[in-house]
Amino acid sequence: MDGLGSQLLSIKELSPTILSSFFENLTRSKAEGFGSAPQVLKNQTAALIFLEPSTRTRVSFEIAAHKLGGQTVLIQKEGTSLEKGETILDTFQTLHAMGCNYFVYRATDSSIHDVAKHFGDKIVLINAGDGVNEHPTQALIDGFTIWERFPDFKNIKVSILGDLARSRVARSDIRLLNMFGITPYISGPTELLKSFSEEKVQLCTSIDAAVQDADVVMMLRIQKERNAAQSFSYTEKDYLNQFGLTEQRLKLAKPNAMVMHPGPFNRGIEIESSVADGPQSSILDQVANGVWVRSELFKNFASRNK
Ligand code: CP
Repeated sequence: MDGLGSQLLSIKELSPTILSSFFENLTRSKAEGFGSAPQVLKNQTAALIFLEPSTRTRVSFEIAAHKLGGQTVLIQKEGTSLEKGETILDTFQTLHAMGCNYFVYRATDSSIHDVAKHFGDKIVLINAGDGVNEHPTQALIDGFTIWERFPDFKNIKVSILGDLARSRVARSDIRLLNMFGITPYISGPTELLKSFSEEKVQLCTSIDAAVQDADVVMMLRIQKERNAAQSFSYTEKDYLNQFGLTEQRLKLAKPNAMVMHPGPFNRGIEIESSVADGPQSSILDQVANGVWVRSELFKNFASRNK
């Protein structure tokens, strides 16, 4: 991926040209399979620093690093010196001194920018989610999963629905789609919407209008763990009926529209179980693409660190 430095903090660092070339290489890598994957991380250790819970992101980075011959170490707050008050920068410096050159970092805040400034190009640094700000590798996954069905994203309607206020995935996805000239349709409960200043979106007051004739319907998780002030009082059933993706509501979209969710999802709240598991669901394709995307990223960074 020409144009990628030693860090990926925001999807904004990439361009349509870089992204298209990344998706094309990814398509080739997937076709070749992991059997012939170059062992570009041999003798390299990737530190996965996850200060928030994760299954998909953490495990897919771990599997990707192993497929490329690398080792991984997992650092969480519990059981490490972070719990004793060590600063995050000191933790990074400690791991770097032990020979870790690749870092994947998820945190509740945007401290990744301080880390990036401190280390510059001495380490590879990948943002695995910084608070409510960005989740660039999830955008690569979501973008690639859409691209596989709709190459070049030509003439598609993409709807992103639900808890937009607290979704870092939504912001990164919208930024990526905007780069390709797509203005996503957004909708959700008023309490969970926010105004996007930098990004281009089409706000729909009704969920049904957003879903109408969509090619892609992306649902977002209600993030109850973040910013309780933005919570609300709907029952689960009310939320599903008013704002969730039910079988009935999905009929408004184009036939065979893609159903997406970055996960983890709340069954029966933002998405009806039968839709999440149904024939139009691409949710597990997104998960599977997570390993491919993260492996391709590691390969790109490794080629810059020879
Ligand atoms: N989509 C996503 O970031 O999932 P995890 O929280 O399981 O990593």
